[in-house]
Amino acid sequence: MIRVENLHKEFDGKEVLKGISIEYKAGECSLIIGASGSGKTVLLKNLVGLHTPTSGEIWYDDKAFTTLKEKQRKELRKEMGMLFQGSALFDFATVEENIMFPMDFFTDWSKEEKLDRANFCLKRVHLENANKKYPNELSGGMQKRVGIARAIALNPKYLFCDEPNSGLDPTTSIVIDRLIQEITQEYNITTVINTHDMNSVMEIGDKIGFIYQGQKLWEGSNREILKSDCKELNDFVFASNMAKQLRALMK
Ligand SMILES: Nc1ncnc2c1ncn2[C@@H]1O[C@H](COP(=O)(O)OP(=O)(O)OP(=O)(O)O)[C@@H](O)[C@H]1O
Ligand SMILES: [Mg+2]
Repeated sequence: MIRVENLHKEFDGKEVLKGISIEYKAGECSLIIGASGSGKTVLLKNLVGLHTPTSGEIWYDDKAFTTLKEKQRKELRKEMGMLFQGSALFDFATVEENIMFPMDFFTDWSKEEKLDRANFCLKRVHLENANKKYPNELSGGMQKRVGIARAIALNPKYLFCDEPNSGLDPTTSIVIDRLIQEITQEYNITTVINTHDMNSVMEIGDKIGFIYQGQKLWEGSNREILKSDCKELNDFVFASNMAKQLRALMK
């Protein structure tokens, strides 16, 4: 469980997050949606500790993240898997080495143990036999799967994904979404995903938080989103004319 309490973030006096409160549960895919520039990535970066909040608190189960000492922060950081915009794989390293990178950094496992774990993660994302390939030899969808394998390398309790579908076609996007959802449920992970993608919202959105200009204007499930009364949310969801017509038909 992650609980965000009245989170504010300013850059040079400009407030980007304006008091966000929301809770994310284990075993669920929670989505952060909103227009470009609304503050989704900044929120995610605060969650993982890449930004320090100006004020507010982030609870990881019973731990208040911002008040932790460096050693405890590192322990907690070990429990977080991340899949950031693009796959952010290291081009100079093979698939196997990419997946072993967090193990090199955070564990003292032997080479065999690391290889075993890398193979397990690769199998989990259906990419057996890609060990010795380099990222530029893989398709975009395969690169994302390597990114997911790396994100789950340390068996995380928390998983963060920033636009996991960017650059993918709709069919591959759904494959990636379902993989993230399966892994979330299988290992009871608290997963938080930033997305623009309404397909993802409808497919895997156990919980959705809509951010508008740094504020959370709405939260609910994918079943509730189409019936919402929030004007800004409806403008975002039904941005195209076709979607507007669809909504009119549903009423
Ligand atoms: N390091 C930074 N310093 C100053 N301003 C920043 C910084 N990072 C983000 N911002 C500003 O915060 C606002 C929100 O940015 P953010 O990247 O969170 O948007 P987003 O919702 O993720 O958009 P997109 O959908 O395009 O990824 C923007 O106005 C951006 O310019
Ligand atoms: Mg972003």
